[in-house]
Amino acid sequence: MPTFPYKTRAPAKLNILLKVTGRRPDGYHELISVMVPIDLSDRLEMDVVPKGIKLNCEGYQVPADESNLVHRAIKAFLSQVSFNKGISIKLQKNIPVAAGLGGGSSDAAATLLALNKLWELGLALPELVQLASELGSDVPFFIYKGIALVEGRGEQITPLPSLPLTFFVLLVPPLLKIPGKTRRMYDNLSTAHYTRGQFVRRTLSSLKQGRLIDHCPMFNVFEEIAFAVIPGLNKYRKALEEAGAAKVYLTGSGPCLFALFSTEEEARKLFSRIKKQGLECYLASSLLR
Ligand code: C5P
Repeated sequence: MPTFPYKTRAPAKLNILLKVTGRRPDGYHELISVMVPIDLSDRLEMDVVPKGIKLNCEGYQVPADESNLVHRAIKAFLSQVSFNKGISIKLQKNIPVAAGLGGGSSDAAATLLALNKLWELGLALPELVQLASELGSDVPFFIYKGIALVEGRGEQITPLPSLPLTFFVLLVPPLLKIPGKTRRMYDNLSTAHYTRGQFVRRTLSSLKQGRLIDHCPMFNVFEEIAFAVIPGLNKYRKALEEAGAAKVYLTGSGPCLFALFSTEEEARKLFSRIKKQGLECYLASSLLR
């Protein structure tokens, strides 16, 4: 059995805010988002080997081939630096896939950060962010390891003060995966969905005062679209509401739904009720920087 001397975690994220202000000439959209990392995480174990890239995946099924973002992150790194050894990685996927939780993006960021350390390459933060943004719009956020304001296509990151410890109940609806989901959700946006900054200022001001629950305006541009185009999603929002969630939110382009609480006790009550219904759910908390 090989042993892996380097171990790291890749956290999932939730969107407290996700606004789109317009479409860019390159076809992507301009975002204003606030993302928070949570303690539901994938686990990566790595070792330097004489040559090649070896990736093994366990847990939730994802391809271990060159399409995997971990593989692509290693390739991106090697395009920037010369290194005459290889890497072996074991990826334990605990974050549900294609749910809006950013698992693949987080794995990619964790890989970039780990390689930088493991191979002692000393790339600076802006260089890592540049590599990250080439891998995907959500990847730069995970380089910063904390709650942040995310702008541009996803590559402009402003760290925000840590949240007071907050608990989340996540429900991943057992719905068929939509191929190319994120792109399809963006394609459903029209100018009517584009918004300006007033709301964002209030959200940021609450967060800077350390206030989230009951104080901080939250919004997700994909909420209306997701409930319209993902058949059956509403049933799961109702399941959370009927089990006691005061308000249910969508993360990213979904379909994962979540509710938030200031105490673990309240969150655990909702989690137990949802779990008893046989639904896929998680109890998680915000990660401090
Ligand atoms: O960057 P990433 O590959 O994760 O994006 C997936 C898809 O989401 C893109 O192909 C694009 O259609 C859409 N997207 C967008 N604007 C963003 C981020 C993603 O239109 N800021």
